[in-house]
Amino acid sequence: MKRIDQRRIRLDDALSRLMQTEAGRAEYWRRLDAECDHSPLVELLDKSLDLEGDVIECGVFRGTSTRLIARRLTERSPTKKLFACDSFEGFPQDRIQSKDLNPLRFRFRHKIRRKFARAADVPFRLMQFFEAYRVNGYVVKGFFSDTLPKLVRRKFCFIFIDCDIYDSHLDCLNILYDQLVPGGLVMFDDYAQPKWPGASRAVDDFFASRPEKPQSFAGHHGTAWYVRKPLVLREAAPTPAFMPRLRQSA
Ligand SMILES: C[S@@+](CC[C@H](N)C(=O)[O-])C[C@H]1O[C@@H](n2cnc3c(N)ncnc32)[C@H](O)[C@@H]1O
Repeated sequence: MKRIDQRRIRLDDALSRLMQTEAGRAEYWRRLDAECDHSPLVELLDKSLDLEGDVIECGVFRGTSTRLIARRLTERSPTKKLFACDSFEGFPQDRIQSKDLNPLRFRFRHKIRRKFARAADVPFRLMQFFEAYRVNGYVVKGFFSDTLPKLVRRKFCFIFIDCDIYDSHLDCLNILYDQLVPGGLVMFDDYAQPKWPGASRAVDDFFASRPEKPQSFAGHHGTAWYVRKPLVLREAAPTPAFMPRLRQSA
């Protein structure tokens, strides 16, 4: 196992130990709150919480961003559900394309194939976390092309896409975008990141035929890329042929 994966698992073990006592759980909840206050993801999430609809994260890996979203939702909008979606075994191996390769980072497909594969323990850990803090959260395990269509009746106010490769981005957008409520936000963690060229291409391809385009958000704690779905415009009322002038007072 790679050293970085070992380190991540050790950290998660330490977290599980912390959460075994009431004092530890309170301490971790406080830490998460402090992290929320410095997160552009949470800053954008906040802008969607007055809208109807749930929240979905596509690309969870070890749950770092999931726990931040969960912390904020539980405090500010506890009736909204949080769907945490991932294969928990990395990318769909046959869907990594040459447009996902980058000469400076992932030059070879086999390097990408191995990424994020060490997460089989995460669904259980996340469910324990949801239970401990009464988060209205659901772990959705499997490849997006199989799992997301099952959520087709849901409405979302916020979609967080963090799944790196071209095909995965398009799966998320093709399946979920219609379910985003007017005014809702999609945040893209990998847009404009040279490391993952397929992410920007997928987002640009998807929005090429739509009026809305990715915008950067310079929050207090960093930059994020997102799209806001336009509010549906009501049809303009027909202009009456004759509008009586208001009589002006003398
Ligand atoms: C960069 S990681 C997510 C990191 C996480 N959001 C965080 O901030 O801690 C990308 C994740 O996307 C998942 N993923 C990518 N494509 C997928 C697909 N088509 N179906 C399911 N999971 C996918 C991978 O398994 C990986 O765990």
